[in-house]
Amino acid sequence: MARTVLITGASSGFGEAIARHFAAKGDRLVLNARRLERLKKLKAELESSAEIHLVPFDVRDRQAVTQALTNLPADFAEVDILVNNAGLALGLEPAHKTDLDDWDCMIDTNCKGLVYCTRALLPGMVARNRGHVVNIASTAGTYAYPGANVYGASKSFVIQFSANLRSDLLGTKVRVSCIAPGMAETEFSLVRFKQDAEKAAAVYAGKSAMTASDIAHAVIYATDQPEHLNINYIELMPVTQAPGGLKVVPV
Ligand SMILES: NC(=O)c1ccc[n+]([C@@H]2O[C@H](COP(=O)([O-])OP(=O)(O)OC[C@H]3O[C@@H](n4cnc5c(N)ncnc54)[C@H](OP(=O)(O)O)[C@@H]3O)[C@@H](O)[C@H]2O)c1
Repeated sequence: MARTVLITGASSGFGEAIARHFAAKGDRLVLNARRLERLKKLKAELESSAEIHLVPFDVRDRQAVTQALTNLPADFAEVDILVNNAGLALGLEPAHKTDLDDWDCMIDTNCKGLVYCTRALLPGMVARNRGHVVNIASTAGTYAYPGANVYGASKSFVIQFSANLRSDLLGTKVRVSCIAPGMAETEFSLVRFKQDAEKAAAVYAGKSAMTASDIAHAVIYATDQPEHLNINYIELMPVTQAPGGLKVVPV
């Protein structure tokens, strides 16, 4: 039976790929991002295989999130799967040189936006005793690297929030999964380096990074399990990436 899947950040990268994978299965989609033109293009492309409703809002805008997600059209209102994917990294400077506005933006998007979307849809899931929240974290939430400062911390929040949600939802049939990808080639670095295409391309050159589709497969795996099974956490990296280990340097 077709499920209703709401995906944040569906205008690019993982979110777009996740939308394509669910559409191919014939599921009903509610797609969010700020760039409406991109969403419209994706809708036009996918609507031969899936019913699609667009909700173009900024996940940082609590009122807009609540308004849109608690007033979905009847056909899309019973969301079965929420994929909290919208997010970003800004800058790679050490903590003492970063722009505080960048830190605000990452916390507002990656942490607060994710909890606003979750809080808006959870009551319906619990009332129906059916649903699945899939949060996109990052390996940066577990392994430190220079310049990850607030980005990594925001993703640690996502990992722990996912685990805590599971605790709160125990006794219901609502599932929670956290997917933590390592390096994947999307517009992520273009955003991180504020549209510097050369700098962004250098991140991936010769690295055989994962693709957005690799991450979509993990989301599909987590959400296609029988209803007695909860995939708590999936961490994935390209073969070319591994945690760096401890470092000691003279000062
Ligand atoms: N690529 C990687 O290596 C990697 C690794 C681990 C985790 N991640 C995480 O995966 C998620 C997706 O990233 P990606 O790699 O697919 O990057 P991407 O290609 O830049 O896509 C990010 C998506 O998030 C949306 N978004 C950003 N801010 C938003 C806001 N305030 N409100 C609504 N939508 C917003 C963007 O849409 P609009 O700009 O149109 O709003 C876009 O659709 C992020 O949470 C990211 O932190 C990425």
